[in-house]
Amino acid sequence: MKSPKCRRETRLFAAPETIAPAGVIGYGPREFEWYTKMSEQRTTAAGGMETSYGFRQVGQDEKQGLVNEVFHRVANRYDLMNDLMSGGLHRLWKDAMVAWLNPPKRPGWSVLDVAGGTGDIAFRIVEASQGNAHATVLDINGSMLAVGRERAVKRRLDANVDFVEANAEALPFADESFDAYTIAFGIRNVPHIDAALREAFRVLKPGGRFLCLEFSEVGMPILDKVYEAWSFNAIPRIGEIVAGDGEPYAYLVESIRKFPNQENFAAMIRAAGFGRVTYRNYSGGIAALHSGWKL
Ligand SMILES: C[S@@+](CC[C@H](N)C(=O)[O-])C[C@H]1O[C@@H](n2cnc3c(N)ncnc32)[C@H](O)[C@@H]1O
Repeated sequence: MKSPKCRRETRLFAAPETIAPAGVIGYGPREFEWYTKMSEQRTTAAGGMETSYGFRQVGQDEKQGLVNEVFHRVANRYDLMNDLMSGGLHRLWKDAMVAWLNPPKRPGWSVLDVAGGTGDIAFRIVEASQGNAHATVLDINGSMLAVGRERAVKRRLDANVDFVEANAEALPFADESFDAYTIAFGIRNVPHIDAALREAFRVLKPGGRFLCLEFSEVGMPILDKVYEAWSFNAIPRIGEIVAGDGEPYAYLVESIRKFPNQENFAAMIRAAGFGRVTYRNYSGGIAALHSGWKL
């Protein structure tokens, strides 16, 4: 069911003449042009994500509730939609993340996967460690975690994976608890990214590894145009057809455009205390994988 409230909110920033007819999900040509201009305004290392819900400006206290609503609405179709929206590419990026992490194939090594949702990263890490690693999936959203728990049981990985409902900005763990911290396609949804990064640093053991996979800035103009057209037109429509709800997907693509670019995000990771911060681009920068160490 589409929420009338959300539809109205999505339109708040569109000039009246650019608004698509009622019931039309996605962006008409003029709306698209307008949104393209908006998309040039990425936030920076100086902040901005805490008050941006997609292209809308919201109060700092409002954002998390709106994000939670998105993931409650998409949880059941989340994994299918990931495949459809990325043409399966998210699997390759996640595999690359786990390959770079290279979890040891010995017991006693633990990873905290924050904003871990339905468990994709945690499952891959446990499998790559040949069943030795212990993974804690932390997410603020009980609906996403419920899907993850079910998947863990089906894959017989539940002995290696715990699920914790909590906020990335205030982790319920002691200092120096984990060997690695991973977060995939999650950080841009967290209102106070600086707080989440500080928490990542705090819970890692000395020598611990931080890895963050997130959508980023595309370096090639032609690819960027194609990607933009796909994101703003096709993705909300696929959401409408497959999940019966296009609005959450409009937020997801808008939030990608607001997230700091590779260099700005690297600066934020350094500011949280991490050393040897580097990143790798995937698919021309559609996604980027940032790495840092608690030295
Ligand atoms: C796009 S999903 C990513 C899920 C998974 N990591 C993956 O790659 O498939 C983003 C997740 O971030 C979670 N999230 C949003 N805000 C959060 C917060 N403040 N703390 C923890 N998780 C949060 C959402 O509930 C959602 O499950």
